[in-house]
Amino acid sequence: MLPIIDPTTTKSWKQLKEDFQKMEHQTISGLFDEDPDRFNNFQIRWKSFLIDYSKNLIEKETLGHLMGLARECKLEDARRMLFDGTPINKTEGRSVLHMALRNRSNSPMKVSGQDVMPMVNKVLNQVKDFSEQVYGGTLKGFSRKPIRTIVNIGIGGSDLGPVMVSEALRAYKAAHLEAYFVSNVDGTHMAETLKKADPETTLFIIVSKTFTTQETMTNAHTARKWFLEQTKNDAAVAQHFVAVSTNGNAVKEFGISEDHMFEFWDWVGGRYSLWSAVGLSIACLVGFKNFEALLQGAHEMDEHFSTSPLEENIPVILALIGVWYTNFFEAETEAVLPYDQYLHRFAAYLQQGNMESNGKSVDRAGKRVTYDTGPIIWGEPGTNGQHAFFQLIHQGTRLIPADFIAPASSLNPVGDHHIKLLANFFAQTEALMKGRNHEEVVQEMRAEGVSEPQIKQMAPYKVFEGNKPTNTIIFDALTPENLGSLIAMYEHKIFVQGIIWNIFSFDQWGVELGKQLAKKVMVSMTNEVPVTQHDPSTNGLINAWKKMRKS
Ligand code: F6P
Repeated sequence: MLPIIDPTTTKSWKQLKEDFQKMEHQTISGLFDEDPDRFNNFQIRWKSFLIDYSKNLIEKETLGHLMGLARECKLEDARRMLFDGTPINKTEGRSVLHMALRNRSNSPMKVSGQDVMPMVNKVLNQVKDFSEQVYGGTLKGFSRKPIRTIVNIGIGGSDLGPVMVSEALRAYKAAHLEAYFVSNVDGTHMAETLKKADPETTLFIIVSKTFTTQETMTNAHTARKWFLEQTKNDAAVAQHFVAVSTNGNAVKEFGISEDHMFEFWDWVGGRYSLWSAVGLSIACLVGFKNFEALLQGAHEMDEHFSTSPLEENIPVILALIGVWYTNFFEAETEAVLPYDQYLHRFAAYLQQGNMESNGKSVDRAGKRVTYDTGPIIWGEPGTNGQHAFFQLIHQGTRLIPADFIAPASSLNPVGDHHIKLLANFFAQTEALMKGRNHEEVVQEMRAEGVSEPQIKQMAPYKVFEGNKPTNTIIFDALTPENLGSLIAMYEHKIFVQGIIWNIFSFDQWGVELGKQLAKKVMVSMTNEVPVTQHDPSTNGLINAWKKMRKS
């Protein structure tokens, strides 16, 4: 059983409240003045990673209190329970053992006393055999042409992980392959994808933990119908459709044979599943060796997280800094800003990972929490974000802690692009921290020859308050291994925060109500009778839609 501790009742919480009062009059630049070695004192180097957390509104003493909070909330016990397969996903009665999927040491990992590694390795070998054929161009379609197009059909964790990683590792992609990811039940998503697909050379991978999800099953049936219309060949379905699921019966019912089904298990949460056969599209696209390297990188982060003392533990430090801003500064959001175009879906992926995990308001004792939990996660790759929403981060009224992420070297060393990209990367965190005060603005405008009345009028708009916190995460290059470590780092950060916030991070009951109502609403929509059974607004909207559709 995970501990049940209201964090606000701890001694550390009270100390942190006092720290916050003091910190209100402090600036990040001031902290650097006090400790010239702050950059070295507030960073971790691990493998090729540099995790710099020096540009935060945080002192050593506060970090100590945050560590105290983690200990009072029994984080170390919870971490042990996570890794030893204790069913910590209590509301679903499940263990949380996605780390077994990337356990390259192959040491036993148990669920209900049973070592899961033999079954993990069995499916991984199945993924290896299959993906090597696709990647190597030897898997042929019904007309003996090699597979060239992969269409992954899934949603949520059965889509976001595969699409994010496939995009992130595009540099490693087999030249003869292209992959598309269809998630939305909006027919446009499937229709536009099918325009690019040749039935003779397309492989459909249907990914659904439950194999009942409305969006995925609708898309899967549409894909099969299209395939049959194009090929008029029922037998060919077997060569062009495979499934990844925990629901063998539903897969069989859909018409996919057992040897084309890749299994995973209920102790793998959807949003933590890319390491399982859910990552089949990744393995096919970039090759099994690269998929293994991704697992290896994640495994190394698992080792770091599970064995490092809290004070030297990257996910723990990042999580506690997040708690500091969420609960004491009342920051509502966190920006994730990768300075790498390959990571353009990273924030979207983390949105599910973080917000579906920690977007909870009932604690582990079943009571409503009295403090904030998971932040809103958002972001876009730099430098695009700079020309869109950075204005608000720099001069808006809200505090937005941000993670800046970049590889030291580019996989596409074109001209001076990367140095320009990284110049922006470094400049932004400096600008966010230092800002520009009124005096500096005035000096600058005078130097530019601006008239005094103009300076008086314009200077307030040009002031940057600064003091905006950032973490900077740099690694040598966007390799599969580094990517695996980066993702696992955020996964464990989410876990740590869930423990502190005394919530269950591995269920997602909040998505159920909408699903149920959609079914009822659909019934109301499929006849011409005016709808009266919903609330007045929803009735009005459905009835208006019925008329609009006719006209
Ligand atoms: O949106 C809720 C959710 O259950 C996610 O947690 C999950 O990743 C997604 O739906 C897809 O579910 P499935 O893999 O069962 O189709």
